[in-house]
Amino acid sequence: MALQVFTAVTGAAWESALVGALDRADHGVTVVRRCVDVSELLAAAATGTGSAALLSADLRRLDGDAVARLAAAGVAVVGLVEPGDERAAARLQAWGVLHVLPADAAAEEIARALREAVAGGPPRGRDIADPRAALPGGSRPEPPGERAGGEGTVVAVWGPTGAPGRTTVAVGLADEAARLGVETLLVDADVYGGVVAQVLGLLDESPGLAAAARRAATGALDEAALRALAWEVRPALSVLTGLARADRWPELRPSAVAQVLDEARRLAALTVVDCGFSLEEDEELSFDSAAPRRNGATLAVLEAADVVLCVGGADPVALQRCIRALGDLRDVLPDVEPLLVVNQVRRGPVPGDPRREIAEALDRFAGRAVDCFLPADRGATDAALATGRTLAEVAPGSALREGLRGLAARVTGVPAPTSRRIRARSRRSAG
Ligand SMILES: Nc1ncnc2c1ncn2[C@@H]1O[C@H](COP(=O)(O)OP(=O)(O)O)[C@@H](O)[C@H]1O
Ligand SMILES: [Mg+2]
Repeated sequence: MALQVFTAVTGAAWESALVGALDRADHGVTVVRRCVDVSELLAAAATGTGSAALLSADLRRLDGDAVARLAAAGVAVVGLVEPGDERAAARLQAWGVLHVLPADAAAEEIARALREAVAGGPPRGRDIADPRAALPGGSRPEPPGERAGGEGTVVAVWGPTGAPGRTTVAVGLADEAARLGVETLLVDADVYGGVVAQVLGLLDESPGLAAAARRAATGALDEAALRALAWEVRPALSVLTGLARADRWPELRPSAVAQVLDEARRLAALTVVDCGFSLEEDEELSFDSAAPRRNGATLAVLEAADVVLCVGGADPVALQRCIRALGDLRDVLPDVEPLLVVNQVRRGPVPGDPRREIAEALDRFAGRAVDCFLPADRGATDAALATGRTLAEVAPGSALREGLRGLAARVTGVPAPTSRRIRARSRRSAG
């Protein structure tokens, strides 16, 4: 049976000639639909009537996300570029289009590329019901050696719903890492609305992550552009601010966010990403594969990250949510082994010794050990929020700050200096 192909080729002068030549029976290719733009192509792909798409690089609104969605729909992609346009070819390849030909290639050659693209598997295709279909780059995470970006480490700070303290941990971790001398970029990628700028007292008019994602989607994001979009808090600490309004989440396209993180690895030794919560699987099971997914950006961050922190609260309700979130994460990204951070630990909501009780509950119901306990300290967090400063500035001797500094030391591998208070305490106990 002939290969069923969609086309979305600009350049009216030769489009019909090409399609006509391609359609000839002896090439083994049938053009089932000639699409005029990206949205028509995505809609056609969702019908399942074609297994490959031939598209031109300069198609308006074509970006990595569209390519990822074609892949998710099981449609193999072949790209056409103006002869000699290396940049366009590189852009398509960066989006995962492995077969790129000059637009003046012979119909026979194009037909062969289409067959090869399909034979190579629906381009790294994923089952449509698999939420990872929303991710860029197909079914396998890139091995570290193959990364397009730089050398920096990406840490995702994630956790269940219910405000367990993801932002507090992300801001504290980034601030402490910078104080340990590690050049750090803090990225606010909460698709439910970002608050990092406000927490840090930044008068945010900066376009931040959404602008970086827009540039990435058009292939125009490089290190200098990312640096210009980030807000420099101190020389070692920059912030890429988040969505000012939660309803603007479609601006954080998964593939573009992943590209921003690749670039962030070049810019900073450590990138800390404040993520949204929940993976909302019911949404992922949507029939319309072309529909954008709110949590796609969160998934993209979790898959790209070198380290994932799962931040949970320390009361029975928060623990229950944390256990469920760990299960969800395991279902969606089984290779991700998060570090478990239990925040807001205090006496009261759990009986007896809270750390022991919490550790036992998480071991029993999630099969996980707690990597870090952070104490509740409303005085310290309120003082920080009231002044738009960090815990290191407003409560430098607090146990919460010490905990965050220890976490930063662990994540960066840079030992934290022992604080005066702890030195005094150990001198007292020694003497
Ligand atoms: N260890 C802590 N002790 C006291 N208050 C905390 C602690 N961690 C977070 N908070 C407070 O809890 C609230 C929610 O924290 P936040 O970091 O914004 O949560 P999330 O990002 O998970 O929604 C904030 O008012 C914050 O100051
Ligand atoms: Mg938050």
